[in-house]
Amino acid sequence: MWELDETKNIPVYQQIMEQVIEYIQTGQLNPGDRLPSERKLAASYQVNRSTVVHALEELVSLGWIIRQQGSGTLVNEGRWGRSATPRMNWRQLLSRETPRTEPYLAELHGLLKDPEALDLYTGELPLDLIPDFRLPSYTWEELLVEEKKQKALGYPPLQKVICERLAREQELRVGTNEVLITSGAQQALFLLLQVMLEAGDSVAIEDPSFLYSLPIFDTAGVRLYGVPMDEEGMRIDALEQLILAKKVKLIIVNPTFQNPTGNTMTLIRREELIALSQKYQLPIVEDDVFSELNFEQLPPSLKALERHQVIHLGSLSKVFGSSIKIGWIIADQNLIQRLAEAKQMMDFSLSVFPQVVAYTALTDQNFSANRQQLIATLKQKRDCFYKYAETVRDDWEFEPIAGGLYVWLRWRHQKLTRKDWSHFLQEKLLVAPSFLFSNDTMAMRVNYTRMTEEECRAFFAKLKKLSGIIGGSKHE
Ligand SMILES: Cc1ncc(COP(=O)(O)O)c(C=O)c1O
Repeated sequence: MWELDETKNIPVYQQIMEQVIEYIQTGQLNPGDRLPSERKLAASYQVNRSTVVHALEELVSLGWIIRQQGSGTLVNEGRWGRSATPRMNWRQLLSRETPRTEPYLAELHGLLKDPEALDLYTGELPLDLIPDFRLPSYTWEELLVEEKKQKALGYPPLQKVICERLAREQELRVGTNEVLITSGAQQALFLLLQVMLEAGDSVAIEDPSFLYSLPIFDTAGVRLYGVPMDEEGMRIDALEQLILAKKVKLIIVNPTFQNPTGNTMTLIRREELIALSQKYQLPIVEDDVFSELNFEQLPPSLKALERHQVIHLGSLSKVFGSSIKIGWIIADQNLIQRLAEAKQMMDFSLSVFPQVVAYTALTDQNFSANRQQLIATLKQKRDCFYKYAETVRDDWEFEPIAGGLYVWLRWRHQKLTRKDWSHFLQEKLLVAPSFLFSNDTMAMRVNYTRMTEEECRAFFAKLKKLSGIIGGSKHE
């Protein structure tokens, strides 16, 4: 297994690195597996020990492996490594084996349709909570007339409604020439990566972050670096260190009801973040897909605090479900023009159909009342969650949330491993463990909106049982 290919014309330490990465991607090495010692690797490869050390150090810095005093070199249980690879030359990409799906997710996806499984993993409202509206009965000709209204930035009536809502809800006043309609916030992120970054560029994001689960960064060859958070949001001291060490080109944050932690960045932290981005002249992408699901008054958005430094992203997926596939980017006119051109090169233009549906949804006369009703229901569900969560408070801690879909539960005891998390799947409790979003293995994201009171009670009863299993002797 640990042999070099004599015919390869690349430095030996790189060959070693490639081999380890390949073994991880093809599943010959699994998260948590131990690599042979440096001495044994050097003997098998018939190279100097310093060459092995060099390769392992590079793999550590890319996040593929971790080295622990006393326990040797282990394959990383978290996500970092997978998104930190720079873009490959495309020929190499084609010849590369397809990376395996995350084994935990492969198993979880197999359970999503199981009627006995409790799905607290999916990042959407359950069907019965999504505000309903009636679709208009257009004739084909009438739709073609709407299609003719389309411009490079999207369907103008929809742009206008989005501007009106931003002004009303967030006191953010923008013109329609600063709004580009996209097919969801994910496409918005993809466009920004294509237009603003090059392969190998570094981006600072929160740690943990749902962005690790998106393949778009890998595809663009962009390096993601996680910045630790505290209860106020992304830590500014750590961000500054990272900016200096890694020549960061862009900061992406999800400051309101963050995915996965549910955390909302405080006003002071927002102001500090903006000040730092101004100091280093770095643009901030504010991913703001959850702010409509707020129980309380929110701090102003980053975009409302600083117009030119911040690019704002929104989406209708979190209120109307991801099938609606409508999102938007708010930025200065010049950037919007460049993004629109890039978008046109990629998918020509977005069809008018989802845009007419989105327009109808937002202008439905009952929408405002339906949204208030939805928020009231979510509050009840959150309170119900808190009530039953008391039964596991000795084992799991969490911060209160003021809206959004997620609560982040953190295990209070010893380090958890993938094996511990596999018990959740055996019990058919589908949650999102922190290793999907970070190197951390001690917490989980729970979409509390997907449970009835009865399911919530059953969830915590099962969680108590599982805590006994993973907690080992302490609970016996
Ligand atoms: C924080 C965040 N941003 C963006 C997205 C993607 O949104 P869309 O469905 O509009 O592509 C998601 C979806 O889970 C998300 O959680």
